Amino acid sequence: MYTGLRRKLQRVGRQTAATDVYIRCAMPPDPAEIARYLVCPDEAAPLAQDSSGLRCVRCSRVFPFRKPNLLEILPSKQAAISTSEVPSEYESAYIQAYSGVWESSDDALPFGASETSSATVMKRREHHTEEVFRLLREAPGDADGVFCDLSAGAGHTTFVAARHSPLVFHCDLSAAAVRYASAKAARMGLDNMVIVHADYFRPPFRNSIQQLTCLDTLIRGPWHEERLLASIRQSLASGGSAVVDFHNWWHNPLRRLGLLRQNFGENRSYSKREVLRLLKQAGFDDFAVSGFIQEADPQRLSARVLRRVLPATRFMVRLTSPARTVR
Ligand SMILES: C[S@@+](CC[C@H](N)C(=O)[O-])C[C@H]1O[C@@H](n2cnc3c(N)ncnc32)[C@H](O)[C@@H]1O
Ligand SMILES: [Zn+2]
Repeated sequence: MYTGLRRKLQRVGRQTAATDVYIRCAMPPDPAEIARYLVCPDEAAPLAQDSSGLRCVRCSRVFPFRKPNLLEILPSKQAAISTSEVPSEYESAYIQAYSGVWESSDDALPFGASETSSATVMKRREHHTEEVFRLLREAPGDADGVFCDLSAGAGHTTFVAARHSPLVFHCDLSAAAVRYASAKAARMGLDNMVIVHADYFRPPFRNSIQQLTCLDTLIRGPWHEERLLASIRQSLASGGSAVVDFHNWWHNPLRRLGLLRQNFGENRSYSKREVLRLLKQAGFDDFAVSGFIQEADPQRLSARVLRRVLPATRFMVRLTSPARTVR
């Protein structure tokens, strides 16, 4: 089976999504194989297989498998954040994620789980996911390379990516999100999906990911976006591509100005000019920004018409990693 994953990494390039019928067995991926794409989040040293998980070859910390397909690779120290930099609700959720919630037997559903979403919301998500994969397909580089979502939540992109990518990392700091994805992947018998309990401020990747997504997450203000974009840059392999999105401030200025009910909490939306500034500051030179209206089916002509007459709800951004190695 373990050599099976290696063979699949070579074979998948010859497969198409339509021929996604190769036999999946419910065994998790080979730890030695997945370690090739991971590093210690503290000092970016390589990881090696250990009896109970993956061990950092430099600091010797062992990152345990919480389930056969679920690894915990958290940094030894959480990032120092404060409400002067991020919304208070984000700060408390972040601190709570580090405070031993893993031990609680809570089986809460994560953000965006289909079980708690209306049909309308699910339809919008489908449009969004479709657009994300269209952008990735059109990106230069290896479309069949290793895939990672750094804030995967309920897994809208990762379960789609698992149909064609040889290896998919589903990462999130929320215990509910990783538990949910781990159980769902096991139920589906996916042997190419690794769920990682990780912190995107210190992600366990360095120059190893060919396709990356991080969606509905660049919403916590410039301090947060700057650091998250830096993590995305570090994680991407040379020539790899990422798709991220930003909410468009101009989508509904009346709400933002307080003249209509605020429905975006303490979260941030941006003008296109601000988006461009954030991308430049993060060191990305090669990117494409497009407007997107999630209510419209991107396959239909009406979507193109709506894009001309309505302000975009989001900016979709495809980032390409600089060819040089990022340290
Ligand atoms: C608004 S949700 C979006 C989830 C998913 N990308 C989607 O579009 O449905 C933001 C996600 O980021 C995760 N998150 C927040 N802070 C994180 C961190 N420091 N590291 C990793 N994930 C984090 C949350 O747990 C949550 O799943
Ligand atoms: Zn280490």
